[in-house]
Amino acid sequence: MTAVAPRAAVAAPPVIRTRGLGKVYSAGTQAEVVALRDVDLDIARGGFVAIMGPSGSGKSTLMNLIGCLDKPSSGVYECDGVDVSTLDAEQLAALRRDKIGFVFQGFHLLPRMSALDNVAMPLGYARVPAHERQHRAREALAAVGLAERAGHHPNQLSGGQQQRVAIARALINNPDILLADEPTGALDSRTGEEILALFGRLRDAGHTVVLITHEAEVAAHADRTYVIRDGRLHAQEADA
Ligand SMILES: Nc1ncnc2c1ncn2[C@@H]1O[C@H](COP(=O)(O)OP(=O)(O)OP(=O)(O)O)[C@@H](O)[C@H]1O
Ligand SMILES: [Mg+2]
Repeated sequence: MTAVAPRAAVAAPPVIRTRGLGKVYSAGTQAEVVALRDVDLDIARGGFVAIMGPSGSGKSTLMNLIGCLDKPSSGVYECDGVDVSTLDAEQLAALRRDKIGFVFQGFHLLPRMSALDNVAMPLGYARVPAHERQHRAREALAAVGLAERAGHHPNQLSGGQQQRVAIARALINNPDILLADEPTGALDSRTGEEILALFGRLRDAGHTVVLITHEAEVAAHADRTYVIRDGRLHAQEADA
C-alpha cells in the first residue's frame, strides 16, 4: 500500500505572517507611545483567530497593520506571501479592496448614505455595474438579518443594526481575510451568536478570520486565541 502524505504536510505559507512587528506613535510634542512590540504572528489560510487584551494594549493597532491601513515602525508583514513594504499606495489600496474586509471598532458608516449604499461602497463605482452592486448589497444585508432596513440611514438604525451593516459591508467583496474589531460589542447575545456562526461558516469556506474581542465567550468561537499585553502578543494556553 502506498502511504499518502496528509495534506497538512504540504504546508501552505501563512496568509498573515509578521516578524518583529512594532509600532511607535509619535504625535508632535506628545511623548512617544510604544503600542506594539516585536510581534511574531502566523495565521494559516482558513484560520479563525481571536485577539484579546485590555483597553490600550495594542489590538486595534495590530489590526490596522494587518489590514495595511498603517505602516509598522519596525519588523516585517507578509500578506499572502507578499512583503507589503514593497507595495506602493495604489497596490496597497488594491490589496485592501480585493483581499481584506474590515469591521471597524465604532462601525465607520457614512452618515449620508443608506444602509444599502454603505454596504455597496467597497465594490467601487467603476468596477461593478449599478444593478449588480444593489443586488449584492441586498444579499449581504439579508445575510445579517437587515433586508428590511436597506433604505435607512445610520442615524435611523440601532447600534446593533449599524454594527450589522458594517459587517455586511466587510463581507461584500467576499474577502480572503476578514478583520473584525469588536464586531459583537453592540449586539445582544442572540444576534452576536448569529454573527459568530456566520464567521464560522466563512472560516469553513476557507476565509481567514481575525476577531478582536473583550469577551472570553466570543473568543471561544475561534480556533486559537492570543492575548496582547502592553503591545506584546502571547499565545493563550489551551486550558486558560
Ligand atoms: N494615532 C495614535 N497616536 C498616538 N497614540 C495612539 C494612536 N492610536 C493609538 N494610540 C495609543 O496606542 C496604544 C494602543 O492603542 P490601540 O488603539 O491599539 O488599543 P486597543 O487595544 O485597541 O484598545 P481598546 O480595547 O480600548 O480599543 C494606546 O496607548 C493608545 O493610546
Ligand atoms: Mg481598539
